[in-house]
Amino acid sequence: MTAKHVAIIMDGNGRWAKKRLLPRSAGHRAGLKRMISLSGHAFDVGVERLTLYALSEENLLRPKEEVDGLFDLFREYFPAQHSELKEHGIRLCVIGNRALLPADICERIDEAEAATRDCTRGTLCLALAYSGRGEIERAANLAVRGGRELTREEFSGLLSVPPVDFLIRTGGEMRLSDFLLYESAYAELYFTKKLFPDFTNGDLDRALKEFSLRDRRFGRVRS
Ligand code: IPE
Ligand code: IPE
Ligand code: MG
Repeated sequence: MTAKHVAIIMDGNGRWAKKRLLPRSAGHRAGLKRMISLSGHAFDVGVERLTLYALSEENLLRPKEEVDGLFDLFREYFPAQHSELKEHGIRLCVIGNRALLPADICERIDEAEAATRDCTRGTLCLALAYSGRGEIERAANLAVRGGRELTREEFSGLLSVPPVDFLIRTGGEMRLSDFLLYESAYAELYFTKKLFPDFTNGDLDRALKEFSLRDRRFGRVRS
């Protein structure tokens, strides 16, 4: 079976830079470059939806210099990438708490989302200022305002992304760090020690191959 919805926790940029005696910002730049190549490749090998964790809500508590550097990278990324994505038929969407992002970045996101709205080959979703708990709280509050109990299907529909098939984390940590908590209920998990800037397109192919060999039972018994 192929993984239709792949999510990646892109971790390890800082350590990648440190190993090279470079500033953390150099690691983030290398990570962005890798992310662009990897996202193009994923759709070429059959992934239909790719959700990438680029910035958590808690990451905004890092030193101002690092956060500003990340914002500058996003300022470059959105206008530079949206025509490229459109050309390849990829719809771009951003999830997370936009109220925590600078207004000019939100404008660039709106433009990129609008420009690629009609693309149907695949969906690239970036999680920025994202919190899985925050997502669930937002959905629960929407549900409460509706004034009646929701089915699981209706509640899932209030979340920003559908269920995840395959969740990859680079950088060696074995935790979710508040990413897609609800949507990963039956995701296959894959942890690799490779730091994100070192995670090649070939590494993604190998991970997807492993996914195809997993036996997903969803709690049932295989006959
Ligand atoms: C992931 O890399 C990118 C972001 C969280 C923005 P890190 O910056 O967490 O890199 P490490 O974990 O310190 O190596
Ligand atoms: C998770 O990585 C967030 C992203 C990769 C964007 P962190 O480096 O922030 O997570 P922790 O601190 O190791 O849990
Ligand atoms: Mg990290």
